[in-house]
Amino acid sequence: MACARGHREGFSRAYRHGDEYFDHMTRNRILIKDMEEELYEAARRVSELAYCPYSKFPVGAAVLSADGKIFAAPNIENASYSVTICAERNAAAQAIAAGTTSIVALALYTRTPTPSTPCGTCRQFLSEFNAEMEVLCIADGEEVLRFILKELLPKAFTISPHPPAPSP
Ligand code: THU
Repeated sequence: MACARGHREGFSRAYRHGDEYFDHMTRNRILIKDMEEELYEAARRVSELAYCPYSKFPVGAAVLSADGKIFAAPNIENASYSVTICAERNAAAQAIAAGTTSIVALALYTRTPTPSTPCGTCRQFLSEFNAEMEVLCIADGEEVLRFILKELLPKAFTISPHPPAPSP
């Protein structure tokens, strides 16, 4: 089987106009503000499923696709510590496995008094799917940290020029 479609070969892409995202392929418009509470709730809820026996630090992440769907996942640790999957990468992987690579926002919840920001590995991983996505970081207090992903990871690694698609 040929490799999975890459977003560079025709996956839908979202473009930002102020607070609004426009999905090129689906022609969908999405206002992140309308979805924020739902996104926070999904991130909080899924943190209860965290598998974190080593760190005992549950994390939940929820991503919003350009067509208005939410995909959420927790962190999953491993006895071989470095194999651990962060919640953000896990949530993005759920979206991709469901056929969307157009991620417009991510909520990150940590069960702490103040919010945490995504780790460096997750910043690079997420920037593959939209360096302009909104990153919303929440915790158990009132504080919300808001970023555009490329503020958190300026000059992310990309392969340029892109390699040719593999032949079937
Ligand atoms: N973790 C995340 O899920 N996201 C991050 O951005 C940083 C850290 C997880 C990994 C590990 O299970 C736990 O938090 C403590 O590092």
